[in-house]
Amino acid sequence: MLFWIILLLASSLTSGARILGVFNIPSYSHHVVYAPLYKELSRRGHEVVVITTNPLNDSSLTNLTEIDISYLYRPVAVLTKLQTDKYMEFITTMFAYGISLFEEVMVNEEVKKLVDNPKEHFDLVIVEDQPLLYSFGKRFNAPVIGILSVDTTMSTHSSLGNPIHPALYTDCLMDYSEKLSIWKKIRYTFNTIWFKLLENFIAKPAVNQVVTKYFGKHFKSFHDFGKPSMLMISVNPFFHPNRPLTPQTIPIPFMHVKQPKPLPKDLAIILDNSTQGAIYLSLGSNVKSAHLPAHLQKAIIGAISELPYTVLWKWEGKNISSLGKNVITRKWFPQQDLLAHPNIKAFVFQGGLQSSEEAILRGKPMVGLPFISEQHRNVKILESLGIAIEIEPLAMTKDSLKHAIIEVAENQKYTQKIQKLKFIAEDEPMSSLDKAVYWSEYVIRHNGTEHLKSLAADMPLYEYLLLDVILVVSMCLALGGFLTYKILKLLYRKIISLYLNNVNKIKIS
Ligand SMILES: *[C@@H]1O[C@H](CO)[C@@H](O)[C@H](O)[C@H]1NC(C)=O
Ligand SMILES: *[C@@H]1O[C@H](CO)[C@@H](O)[C@H](O)[C@H]1NC(C)=O
Ligand SMILES: *[C@@H]1O[C@H](CO)[C@@H](O)[C@H](O)[C@H]1NC(C)=O
Ligand SMILES: *[C@@H]1O[C@H](CO)[C@@H](O)[C@H](O)[C@H]1NC(C)=O
Ligand SMILES: *[C@@H]1O[C@H](CO)[C@@H](O)[C@H](O)[C@H]1NC(C)=O
Repeated sequence: MLFWIILLLASSLTSGARILGVFNIPSYSHHVVYAPLYKELSRRGHEVVVITTNPLNDSSLTNLTEIDISYLYRPVAVLTKLQTDKYMEFITTMFAYGISLFEEVMVNEEVKKLVDNPKEHFDLVIVEDQPLLYSFGKRFNAPVIGILSVDTTMSTHSSLGNPIHPALYTDCLMDYSEKLSIWKKIRYTFNTIWFKLLENFIAKPAVNQVVTKYFGKHFKSFHDFGKPSMLMISVNPFFHPNRPLTPQTIPIPFMHVKQPKPLPKDLAIILDNSTQGAIYLSLGSNVKSAHLPAHLQKAIIGAISELPYTVLWKWEGKNISSLGKNVITRKWFPQQDLLAHPNIKAFVFQGGLQSSEEAILRGKPMVGLPFISEQHRNVKILESLGIAIEIEPLAMTKDSLKHAIIEVAENQKYTQKIQKLKFIAEDEPMSSLDKAVYWSEYVIRHNGTEHLKSLAADMPLYEYLLLDVILVVSMCLALGGFLTYKILKLLYRKIISLYLNNVNKIKIS
């Protein structure tokens, strides 16, 4: 009996690992994907410490300690910088932004205490996928998992041996279609080459320098640029080109979408009473409706006030006097639960990936007003799937918005198509959260995933592209050709001279 009690105690002690999480991109839509994972790991008895811009402050999570870095939120400045669809500009801005975020994390007193404590120990480090943050794994001599709420960059994909290809697996800032024009393919090929050059000659040295600056006490330099033991990315088969992935890459689509909960009473009454239908309008957490230019606000107000439906609008600004009686504004709505209500007919939004995933799982067609980064691509994809209409915000008028909303709300073809996608999305052997928890504990159990590594992960690009083979074979061919030419030339000369000799002999005789 005593033996079993001791064994039980021992196993419960060893089953609890120490896990560090670092999530430093100040964007709500990123954190809704990561929080379920570390919450669940803490519930399963692991001791979890997270450095996060979005602390949960949930006192019922007794095994979770949060280090608050919410001071990284500076929404307006970031938004104006990211409002560019120019590839190179976007990538270099993001890179500089990543370095400044990292430095601001490292000067935090609580982070410093953690990093500088020689007795501090972790069995697993989970970080938002950025080469800089992988250095935390090296500091604590623990395997690292990278996680990201969107698809990752070419550099992380190729570091694990996942193929990159400018026409097949385009980046989220490029167009995604089965048939790219030759001009786009040329442009994307040059973008890819430029990215590789930037990565090798500018990013790697810069990362090494910054990491050494803050971890110099613990290790002299940092070479494992962007290489996690495991990578978890929010890719799903509707939004992302299906790419062969090595076993170290785990897709976690729809990770943040939960079973719908009952609505608060006041909202439930409003929606139950909206038998004509209701529309939910939200431009997400990064684009605030109240920061939109005046003419766009006016077009939106005009369009939704004329709709024959109840409209729930996530609006952060002052009360608007010209709003129709059918419109209700609030600073915040429980979006996932709201979209589940049967009277909601359509969702008007900015085209964020997480919101699109919610709309698909709730079976609600969309009108997309894309503003920044990958939103344009997302809305184009939704439109090509036949489950949304795109409105270009700069060209939007009151009537174009109103007609688009009525079209997706009334024309059954949008709802039918989205029901089909919902059925596909739900047909999975296990939920993304269960998958992420399983693979996190797998990495702890085996202290990394060396055995899952692809040969392609460490192969230099010239070998991967078989340039060495092509070079050697072409040299052999060239040498063979040259020798053949020389021999033939020699033989030809001999034959000619023999012939001439004979001719001369005949002449003489
Ligand atoms: C915290 O971890 C212990 C085991 O270490 C576990 O029994 C307990 O349920 C966890 N608490 C919460 C709130 O998840
Ligand atoms: C958690 O606490 C921080 C700091 O006290 C606060 O800024 C933040 O809004 C809180 N977050 C939530 C979800 O309550
Ligand atoms: C329900 O809607 C009708 C009009 O459609 C309105 O007259 C009534 O006040 C609404 N009731 C509630 C509880 O909102
Ligand atoms: C805005 O409207 C709400 C509800 O209609 C009201 O409670 C609030 O006092 C109004 N605020 C201002 C600044 O007028
Ligand atoms: C895990 O692996 C690292 C190196 O790969 C090693 O230094 C460390 O001691 C290992 N940890 C355990 C608990 O075996």
